[in-house]
This record gives sequence, C-alpha cells and structure tokens, in this order.
Amino acid sequence: MYLITGATGTIGQELVPRLLKQGESIRLFTRSHTKAQHWQSKAEISIGDFEDLDSLKRALDGVKAVFLLTRGDEVGNHHIENFLQAADQQRVVFLSNLGAGLPSNPLSQGHLKREQMLIDRGMPLTILRPGSFMSNCLRWKAGIQQSKTVIHPNADGRSAPIAPGDIAEVALRTLTTADWVGQILELTGPESMTTAEQVKILAQLLNQPLTCQETEIETSIENMIRRGMPHDFAQAMGQVIAGVRRGEADKVTETVKQITGRPAQHFSDWARERANVWLSA
Ligand SMILES: NC(=O)c1ccc[n+]([C@@H]2O[C@H](COP(=O)([O-])OP(=O)(O)OC[C@H]3O[C@@H](n4cnc5c(N)ncnc54)[C@H](OP(=O)(O)O)[C@@H]3O)[C@@H](O)[C@H]2O)c1
Repeated sequence: MYLITGATGTIGQELVPRLLKQGESIRLFTRSHTKAQHWQSKAEISIGDFEDLDSLKRALDGVKAVFLLTRGDEVGNHHIENFLQAADQQRVVFLSNLGAGLPSNPLSQGHLKREQMLIDRGMPLTILRPGSFMSNCLRWKAGIQQSKTVIHPNADGRSAPIAPGDIAEVALRTLTTADWVGQILELTGPESMTTAEQVKILAQLLNQPLTCQETEIETSIENMIRRGMPHDFAQAMGQVIAGVRRGEADKVTETVKQITGRPAQHFSDWARERANVWLSA
C-alpha cells in the first residue's frame, strides 16, 4: 500500500492515475472527500489533515512508502514535524523544490530545512527537487482573455519549467521501487526560457497577438498581497523573483530522461495539449 499526500493537487492528480494504471494499491490523504471521490472505487480515501496527528497515524497504517508533499511555507515545517511523529520507518519520496539547492531566500531555506528534518530522521528517503511547474502559466488565463497581456516580474530571468506529468513519472518510479533511496533528484524541463519566450509560444499556439508586459518586483508583491497572500510569504516570493532575475533558476538537468528513459516534455508540446484551457470560458 502506498500513501499519496497532496493527491488532489497539481502533481498528485497526475501521479494517482499512473499508479492505478500500474495496478498499485493506493491510499489518498485529503481533507476533502469531495475532491477525491472520483477515485473512490479504485483507491482508498483517507480523510485527514497534516494538523491532525491521529488522522496521519490512521493514514500511515500498513503503508510501505509515502509520496509526501506539504505546503511551501513555515506551516509546512510543522506538518513535517507531525508527519515524523506519526510515521514509523516508511520509505518516503518527498517533493521539495529546486531552490533548496541554492537557498538564497527564506522559501528555499524552508525547503532545505524540511529536507533536513526528513534526512535527520534516517528513514529511507528520495528527495525530488522540481523547478517551476509549466502549469503555473495557466494562471495567465484571465490576462490573456481580458487584455491579451501577460504581466510578469521575471524580466530576462530564465528557468526551465517542467511538466507536472514528468514529475509524476519520476515520482511513480521512485515510489514503487527503492532504487533511488538516498538520492536528491533535481528535475527540470528540457529548455531554459524567459517568460517572454513562453508567451511567444502561447501566442503562436492560440493564434493571438499576446503582449508580455514586465512589472517591478515591488508591484508584483503588492498584487500578491492584494490577492490574499500573507505579507511575509509575498515578501519571500519577491526574493525568489529577484533570484530568478539574477539567473539562479537558469538550470537544465537530464534527470527526467535518466529515470524515465524518455526526454522531459517541451513547453510547446505541453501547452499544445491543453490550448483549449486558455480559450475556454
Ligand atoms: N508551483 C511550482 O512551480 C512549484 C515548483 C517546485 C515545487 N513546488 C512545491 O509543490 C508543492 C505543491 O504546491 P502546489 O501549490 O502545486 O499545491 P498543490 O499540490 O496543487 O495543492 C496542495 C495539496 O496539498 C494538500 N494539502 C494542503 N494542506 C493540507 C493539509 N493541512 N493537510 C493535508 N493535505 C493538505 C491539498 O489536499 P486537499 O485540499 O485535498 O486536502 C492539495 O492536494 C509545494 O510544496 C510547493 O513548494 C511548487
């Protein structure tokens, strides 16, 4: 039995069908039965919360390996503490962040801290460090539909966005075998790009003249706070963006290919498969 945390999230939604296709027995940890009910005939659903130790203990009962994903902020540290209290010595595949390899801001330092908490416990562990998800650009939908504009703060900073499906393929392999225990796997897409280059690809795919409009980091922080992000987290995001501008996210790895045997998906192919998302009402 494998326990999948974050099963209803971006990576979890890609991982669950892959495990089911492979015939694995899985238990999904979620706070919301509604969000997971479409899987209830194929997977066990374990209603729980990282805040609730008893629910974690119930979810971990009889489990041999866990796909572990927590929030990327301070609350995530507390959730890892609770997880470690509830767990025995189950094998863990932990979803971290590429930034943990270059902890130049509070968020990256937090990712590294959570990794270290798990390493210190001494359980069999594989750490996945993905770069930015391609799916982040689905947030551009409103701007594209309303003004054919993508407003972003990254300037000419480059990163190599990765398809969530590729992270899930790596998670599938590292979860269902113990071959990668003890390893930290840095996962990126196949090409380093600026936001403007991503927008240009979308413009071609959607057959629309899209404008990529750069904004200052401070303005971006204010916008995040206005949309409800906690002040400290938005400030930390500002430091992440400053790091992207300095080139800290400009890294391409071959890890997806090494583990899955096929190259990581290109942004243009990933976007083509879901072009209707940016066009639909
Ligand atoms: N976005 C990126 O570019 C990127 C890049 C690298 C790494 N990451 C990391 O990826 C992780 C996922 O981030 P995301 O924004 O994509 O979120 P997400 O996985 O799409 O959604 C969050 C998931 O966590 C679960 N969850 C949240 N609070 C919980 C709680 N208290 N107890 C139990 N489950 C809880 C939710 O489950 P329910 O709602 O079903 O309970 C949901 O499935 C984060 O650690 C982030 O740092 C993100």
